[in-house]
Amino acid sequence: MKKIYGIVGHPVIHSLSPVIHKAAFQAEGIDAEYRIFDINPEDPENLANFCYETEVNGIAGFSVTMPYKEEILPYLDEYDPLVKLVGSANTVKNEDSMLIGYNTDTMGAIAALREKTDIQGKRILVLGAGGASRAVCYGLKEFGGRISIFNRTHEKAEELADELEIDAIEFRHIKELAPEIVINCTPVGSVPNTEESLLHAPDLAGVKVVMDIITRPMETRLLKEAKKAGAEVISGERMLLHQAAGQFAIWFSKPAPFEVMEKALYGQLKKTP
Ligand SMILES: NC(=O)c1ccc[n+]([C@@H]2O[C@H](COP(=O)([O-])OP(=O)(O)OC[C@H]3O[C@@H](n4cnc5c(N)ncnc54)[C@H](OP(=O)(O)O)[C@@H]3O)[C@@H](O)[C@H]2O)c1
Repeated sequence: MKKIYGIVGHPVIHSLSPVIHKAAFQAEGIDAEYRIFDINPEDPENLANFCYETEVNGIAGFSVTMPYKEEILPYLDEYDPLVKLVGSANTVKNEDSMLIGYNTDTMGAIAALREKTDIQGKRILVLGAGGASRAVCYGLKEFGGRISIFNRTHEKAEELADELEIDAIEFRHIKELAPEIVINCTPVGSVPNTEESLLHAPDLAGVKVVMDIITRPMETRLLKEAKKAGAEVISGERMLLHQAAGQFAIWFSKPAPFEVMEKALYGQLKKTP
């Protein structure tokens, strides 16, 4: 029987994951479909029912995106230790009717960053203290980054900073910090508010690398400002790609065909930037 994979979220209509995973299935000769499961959050039963019915519906695994990365946890039978640490799962594998949760956002972000820079010993400013920031900060800490978090709601930055034994910083102290790397983990600048950015070129003077994890648009206002300031930039689709490769490896217990996935993603982005 054809296996079924997919992405659970809301809204997921613009997700790039189907293009990436379908290309990988085809390249590896895997007889499987990758579907979109748009689950309306208005009824909390919807996510529960989806999880309870995975077996009868032949679902072998799925990606999880906003707003369900945390909400999915009670419906999992087991999870990887990283899921416990980070508090969210973006990947589920159905193993003999057991739903096992994983988080590949952490490795996705780190792999994307390491395409352009080392992390060890670097002063890193992370913008945002939500789910994605949490996943990213855990990875940065593992790789020896010296992390400071700025968040609109400072108390949330302090909570995360206390937990990870890193720093929380107020906006007015960003310049003194003189970060070498800046990572945006907020939705500021995403469609439709593409002119917004938390930092501008003068704030980024001296910064070597700026990564924005937003995927729509690919070149955010923050990245445009970073280029003006002379920094190297990393856009959100690099993290998306690496986290998808991690999902493939979990579902099929073999390395992902990374270049095929990359080609499919950029092919799609050329059609609908
Ligand atoms: N590329 C990828 O593979 C990938 C993976 C995961 C997530 N993402 C993207 O990352 C972004 C964040 O996701 P998330 O799951 O972390 O969301 P989340 O848990 O809702 O956290 C959002 C964070 O952004 C801050 N924020 C929201 N609106 C803001 C505004 N107008 N001004 C200043 N700060 C603001 C929030 O601050 P407060 O605490 O003050 O509310 C919070 O810290 C999303 O755009 C998501 O699509 C990308």
